[in-house]
Parts: sequence; C-alpha cells; structure tokens
Amino acid sequence: MSPDKHNEPLKRIIVAVTGASGAPYARRLVDCLITSGAEVHLVISPLGRRLFVDELAIEDINASTLLGRVDERLVLHPYKDVGDPLGSGSTPIDAMVICPCSGNTLAQVAAGMGDNLITRAAQVTLKERRRLVIVHREMPMNHLDLENCLRLSTAGAVICPAAPGFYMLPRRIEDLVDFVVGKIMDLVGVKHKLNTRWTDMLDASAPAAEDHS
Ligand SMILES: Cc1cc2nc3c(=O)[nH]c(=O)nc-3n(C[C@H](O)[C@H](O)[C@H](O)COP(=O)(O)O)c2cc1C
Repeated sequence: MSPDKHNEPLKRIIVAVTGASGAPYARRLVDCLITSGAEVHLVISPLGRRLFVDELAIEDINASTLLGRVDERLVLHPYKDVGDPLGSGSTPIDAMVICPCSGNTLAQVAAGMGDNLITRAAQVTLKERRRLVIVHREMPMNHLDLENCLRLSTAGAVICPAAPGFYMLPRRIEDLVDFVVGKIMDLVGVKHKLNTRWTDMLDASAPAAEDHS
C-alpha cells in the first residue's frame, strides 16, 4: 500500500449507502474519509439514491456533487454487479461501513445473502474477518431488527446505530452528524479531529478531517 499524505498506509474503505434516513451521515463520512487521506469505494442502493434526493437534493451522485470537488480517491461501484472487484475477498480492502443501513439490508446481510454488491461485499468483509460497521437507523426497532443486529454482532460486525450523543453540547445539525461520523471513523481506524470524544487527550497529534464548526 502506498502511504498517504501523513505517511501512514493508505486505507481503503467501502462505504455502502442504503435506503434508511441519514444521507447527511453518508455524505459527511465520505468527505471526512477522503480528507483524512483514505480511499473510498462507494456503493449506493436504489433507495439510498432516493434518500440522497429527499434529504440532500442530490440527484446525480459523484465526487463534485458529494464533495464539491473532484477527487480520484472516491470511486463509485455499480450496485447490481456482484462481479465487481468489491465482491471478491482478494481485493485489498481494510473495512466496510454500511451508512445508513436499512432494516432491509440489515436482514439480508444477517441472512447471509449476497445478491447485490452491498450485501455481497458485506459477506466478503465478514468472511475475510475485516471490520464491518453497521450504522442502522430505525425507530423503534422491532424484534427482528434486534435479532438481526445480535446475529451480525455475533458474526463479527460492529453495530453502531445512528444515535448521536448530546454531551458534547451540539448546537447545529452538523454537530450531531459529526458525532456519528467521528464514531465511525474511530471504528475503521481513520484519524480525525471531529469533536466527538469526551476526552481527546490521547489524540492531540491527530491530523486529518477537521471540525468544521
Ligand atoms: C423516505 C424513506 C425513508 C425511509 N427510512 C427508513 C429508515 O430510516 N430505516 C429503514 O430501515 N428503512 C427506511 N425506509 C425503507 C427502506 O428504504 C426500504 O425498506 C428499502 O427496501 C430499503 O432498500 P435497501 O436496503 O436496498 O436500500 C425508508 C424509505 C423511504 C422511502
């Protein structure tokens, strides 16, 4: 792996976006990962695209509309093509985040299904014993959602619900979004300076994604 601008190994992260509410989390996560020097491999379900329209008024998803700039480290992959490199364990990937994760995709992954690139890549992530972070969003959760979360946690995934805390005294929606994104970045091991930790004493040297407040 080639080093990034901070002389750390380049991280390759899959970000999968599904049709749960929370497109702002997805966009900010992609932006912060790229800003921190990671390479982002983005897959979006059809309902995930609809939520980008509904919640962010983004119709055409690309680096310009997501980041406001062109960046070759953002790579879009086709949702329907399970033959894409992300569907193979031999592709060097460090971690996968499903953000936001619908109850539908949660159930499919928990059932071992892999008939689209998101679910297939999630199965590959689990079988290769790589980190899989599931940012589920549903409220309230039914019994099946809870069982699916437990099943995936037992299989090695990290369940990281989109549930921002308030102890950092958020003042804007962006603060709440950053709280969740910071947690995800911690879980995939990408450094950031988002204002998400109760104590940041151990991270004084962190480069990377900035707190934009
Ligand atoms: C506006 C809108 C908001 C939705 N929000 C959620 C949600 O927060 N959580 C969820 O599990 N499903 C939600 N859904 C339902 C999913 O989009 C639906 O189950 C879909 O089949 C998910 O497909 P996917 O997992 O392939 O993206 C929402 C649907 C719409 C149209």
